[in-house]
Amino acid sequence: MTDYKSPFQSITWEESHISIIDQTFLPEREVRIDLKSPGQVWDAIKKLKVRGAPAIGITGGYGFYLGINELRENKFDTFYSEAQRIADYLGSARPTAVNLTWALKRLMATIYSQKDKPIDEIKKTVLNTAITIHEEDRRLCKAIGEHGETLIPKNANILTHCNTGGLATGEYGTAHSMILHGHQAGKVKQVWVDETRPLLQGARLTTWELKKAEIPFKLIVDSASGILMQKGLVDLVVIGADRITKNGDTANKIGSYNLAVLANAHDIPFYVAAPYSTIDMSLESGDQIEIEERDADEVTHFANKSTAPKKTQVFNPAFDVTPHNLITAIITEKGIIKPNYKKHFEELFSV
Ligand code: MRU
Repeated sequence: MTDYKSPFQSITWEESHISIIDQTFLPEREVRIDLKSPGQVWDAIKKLKVRGAPAIGITGGYGFYLGINELRENKFDTFYSEAQRIADYLGSARPTAVNLTWALKRLMATIYSQKDKPIDEIKKTVLNTAITIHEEDRRLCKAIGEHGETLIPKNANILTHCNTGGLATGEYGTAHSMILHGHQAGKVKQVWVDETRPLLQGARLTTWELKKAEIPFKLIVDSASGILMQKGLVDLVVIGADRITKNGDTANKIGSYNLAVLANAHDIPFYVAAPYSTIDMSLESGDQIEIEERDADEVTHFANKSTAPKKTQVFNPAFDVTPHNLITAIITEKGIIKPNYKKHFEELFSV
């Protein structure tokens, strides 16, 4: 995919602050906002101004630097414990995507590895590592697309869920990168985009990205996936991931599990695309993943208008877990991983 130039950058580092596309304004308006403190970063992650597992890891990393750069401690021990406090605070913004805590742990480890250096030098190294995490994600996402493209048959109808593109990552995306590469190879007939209730990441964001990339798509309500599969109009499903455990169980946007069950019932390949920062080798299986529950009004209201009687009780999990046995393959930057995931992950990622 040599000629592809991403039409936007969702996150940029601007010398002393972060600039992001505020995704809550899309698709109507492309608004950039500046984040200048850990508090603003926490709020942006919590309110999904920036969202998608790799993107919150990248933003959290820069937010951590903004926090430690303000610290006035000049003894390593107090500097380190204050840095830990900032990492814990930022990590509390959203619990399910492992990429956020993964980035913060990596930066804490960077600090520790520099413990004999002057504090100002440590701060510079932290910023350089945050920039590296961002650049690395671009490379990983490109590689995911290159590997994933080989799984796409000619003239493919691809169904996807939520948003997994450049908005949700450093660039290219995960599942979206596979679609992008498939399109460049002339193999994508059409993408079916799940609207992705309740916050409409599919309808608002994936359509916006596919349109910019000139990839043919049709938007569907989430519950239309069954009829499409029944009629033979889906050749493969590909989604991203927020956390993949050691055995391959995968947490992703609510509704992903439903799709996996349907795909299995119709003998349609169900793929997950994610970089290594999404694989959590500390958890054995998906039942150990904390699933974020969000506010009731995301379900009881639509465009600020009430769609349910007052005081309606709501259950609003933001993610679900697809068991590994329903996943045909997991596509990472290192290649296409087939079951047995535990064995292959241990070989590839236990570093
Ligand atoms: O709640 P969101 O919008 O942050 O959820 C995002 C997803 O579920 C994505 O599918 C996932 O993070 C993969 S992004 C490359």
